[in-house]
Amino acid sequence: MTPSTPRPADPAPVLAIEDLRIRFVTRDGAVRAVNGLSLSVGRGETLGIVGESGSGKSQTFLAAMGLLARNARVEGSIRFEGREMIGAGPRALNAVRGKRMTMIFQDPMTSLTPHMRIGRQLTEVLEHHEGLSREAARARAVEMLELARIPDARARLASYPHEFSGGMRQRVMIALALLTNPALVIADEPTTALDVTVQAQILALLARMTASGETSVILISHDLGVIAGLCDRVVVMYAGEVMEEGPAEALFANPQHPYTRGLLRSVPRLDRAGGDLVPIAGQPPDLEALPPGCPFAPRCPHVFDRCHTEHPALRPAAAVPSWRKACHLDGFETPPQREGA
Ligand SMILES: Nc1ncnc2c1ncn2[C@@H]1O[C@H](COP(=O)(O)OP(=O)(O)OP(=O)(O)O)[C@@H](O)[C@H]1O
Ligand SMILES: [Mg+2]
Repeated sequence: MTPSTPRPADPAPVLAIEDLRIRFVTRDGAVRAVNGLSLSVGRGETLGIVGESGSGKSQTFLAAMGLLARNARVEGSIRFEGREMIGAGPRALNAVRGKRMTMIFQDPMTSLTPHMRIGRQLTEVLEHHEGLSREAARARAVEMLELARIPDARARLASYPHEFSGGMRQRVMIALALLTNPALVIADEPTTALDVTVQAQILALLARMTASGETSVILISHDLGVIAGLCDRVVVMYAGEVMEEGPAEALFANPQHPYTRGLLRSVPRLDRAGGDLVPIAGQPPDLEALPPGCPFAPRCPHVFDRCHTEHPALRPAAAVPSWRKACHLDGFETPPQREGA
């Protein structure tokens, strides 16, 4: 979680998604939520995912966990630690999910069982799946709650989820997500429901608890400041595709895709207090009727003919090889003079 130290390209990523396509079959037609998305996460890397509501962020990683709704149809490949997750049976998924790959949701109550003491919830996975004795499992649970800064951790094993505040529940969630030393933690808007000071504490906790570099983190957030501060790399999504990806800090300082530029101007940022917020004109695309060219073309201030007819592939965006954009437009490589400032 140190954005200033760029990592060399990892030859064996923890998670490798290739040409992922997810559509949902509905009575009105097919909702094309993810459209040919490819990305990978290196070992120990923290990858940020940003994009407007409905851009396919959650569904992409629910697919990796094997947790898509029943009306989903998936194509492409999601390899986790070398194993294909698409089409994997329940046994294979259960061997990975909640152990090697875990997820933290916005609402901790989606992962915590309301009527079960949290001690039981924490020790169950260790006893049944890791083969620890009851005593060893309890000791490990207390250790994790202490690392998550839950006061009086041993006594709190007897508490039920509703006996914790929202922020404390999210700490319990993080302890639960990291209990089995996973290779990958997917945090989907983990702090959106919390107030700002608690948000910062929780994210600092997640960063600290994954700092050893054994655990890769995918952080999905609407808060670009959070992503810039915590992530090594960022992927910008729109209409279920990657619009731009690259080193987080550099990309936010000098975005190369018109969509990223629009997104940055449309959300508040701590480093730009007082700046005017400019929403992106137009509406997100209709996922049941995507245009043949660039999905952002109808809203893009730089649009030209080719954008309407030819779908742009990811290509190098700046001097850094890992920095790419899906855009026909050349230029933007020098820092923008006015707009992004
Ligand atoms: N079961 C389903 N049936 C039909 N459409 C669905 C289903 N689940 C998700 N979708 C659609 O898939 C699209 C992508 O959803 P997703 O949850 O990935 O968005 P997101 O980027 O996570 O948005 P947010 O920032 O609001 O969480 C949305 O248009 C959503 O309505
Ligand atoms: Mg989501």
